Amino acid sequence: MKEGLEQTLVLIKPDALRNSLTGYVLSLLSEYHTGLVFAGVKIVHVTTMLAAEHYAEHRGKIFYASLIDYITGAIHYPTAPEKQRVVAIIYQGPEAVTKLRAIAGPTNPHQARDQKPGCIRALGTVAPLKNTEGKVVGERMDNLIHASATDEEAQREVKLWFRPSDIPPAMHAYTTRESGDHFYFKNGRLLSTHEQGSVLIAAPGDIVWESDLSALEEIRSSRPSSIPLDSIVAKYLINR
Ligand code: GTP
Ligand code: MG
Repeated sequence: MKEGLEQTLVLIKPDALRNSLTGYVLSLLSEYHTGLVFAGVKIVHVTTMLAAEHYAEHRGKIFYASLIDYITGAIHYPTAPEKQRVVAIIYQGPEAVTKLRAIAGPTNPHQARDQKPGCIRALGTVAPLKNTEGKVVGERMDNLIHASATDEEAQREVKLWFRPSDIPPAMHAYTTRESGDHFYFKNGRLLSTHEQGSVLIAAPGDIVWESDLSALEEIRSSRPSSIPLDSIVAKYLINR
């Protein structure tokens, strides 16, 4: 991270949109209240691919499927795909991660109400998770916002959701590099030349996160990559 450019990723989740809490959340997070500034903002229709990369650490857990349904908007807008979206925001400034985590509050809305009345997640809810026989097997935490937990997580998440070109260059916290090649994506594979139905990820002259570009070069030459391909391309597929 570059000096003085501490960043964190916030997602205003579908339950917050559904309950018309977006403006309230933005007010609590305003520059006046937090000393933080926007470095990037976008409305994202969350694909299963992006959701799976964002919540990769929870793969295999009992609540995983419902977590993916929740963040993709399938739970709160089941019959209105056009409303299935989140607001993704990069906040920048001193102590961005810790400030946002404090205002968000505990993960579980019940605990948030008990332990930190007034925090954002105190306004959330916990929904029962049922199996096919209708038996309660767990719970889903509808906690209104996401906020990166550590600087390392913030870096991974900012790069997962945002391209460098979504952020003013003077606010780039992480190293970028200019691509010298074409990279295309089709059916889970990386291509060097265009094929019918492939998506352009980067072209010569494009500014790309350095870590993504290194990983793309590794994947192209069949070397082991530190970043999964889906984790790089998901942001290039946003809102396509
Ligand atoms: P985020 O800001 O959304 O990442 O929440 P967090 O950092 O406070 O929690 P974490 O990253 O561990 O989990 C991500 C999301 O998974 C949470 O927001 C919850 O919706 C869900 N989750 C996490 N742990 C549990 C759990 O033990 N049970 C259930 N039901 N849901 C969980
Ligand atoms: Mg988390």
